[in-house]
Amino acid sequence: MLVPYNTANRKIAMGLLSFMRKEKDVKRLLKTMEQYEKDPDWKLYLWKEDDFIGVIGVSIEGSEAKVRHICVNPSFREEGIGTKMLAALKKLLPCEVKPTKYTKTFVSACEEKEAETRKS
Ligand SMILES: CC(C)(COP(=O)(O)OP(=O)(O)OC[C@H]1O[C@@H](n2cnc3c(N)ncnc32)[C@H](O)[C@@H]1OP(=O)(O)O)[C@@H](O)C(=O)NCCC(=O)NCCS
Repeated sequence: MLVPYNTANRKIAMGLLSFMRKEKDVKRLLKTMEQYEKDPDWKLYLWKEDDFIGVIGVSIEGSEAKVRHICVNPSFREEGIGTKMLAALKKLLPCEVKPTKYTKTFVSACEEKEAETRKS
């Protein structure tokens, strides 16, 4: 289930976001967290099963939601969580969901699979 981030989950959100290569630097990661906390157009969601195991973050830019971050705890990868987070985000937001250069490979791979499923 996708749940909106709140500051009580700051540590877990930071831990999950740090799986993105561009967020390895702590200063950069803190700046990113601050943007999600202060900028109303930046929205962060956690994926909750028994625990919080994934994170997805977007910036709203006009009619588009740009996927800035998408990460899953390594212990739960290859189980479809990333795909489910993206699908849940698309249902939740009244915007067209687009990747950034940092999320493009995964988001595009999901879209290709979706298109193949629709065809068959
Ligand atoms: C990318 C990520 C969120 C995928 O999460 P996941 O829960 O394992 O994803 P799913 O189980 O839904 O999908 C797995 C599929 O995505 C593919 N995949 C994983 N990472 C990928 C990437 N960076 N680009 C393209 N495809 C990717 C897997 O190879 C697998 O393909 P298959 O189904 O053909 O075997 C996860 O690997 C992660 O947290 N990576 C580190 C953070 C990161 O780099 N995020 C940006 C990715 S562009």
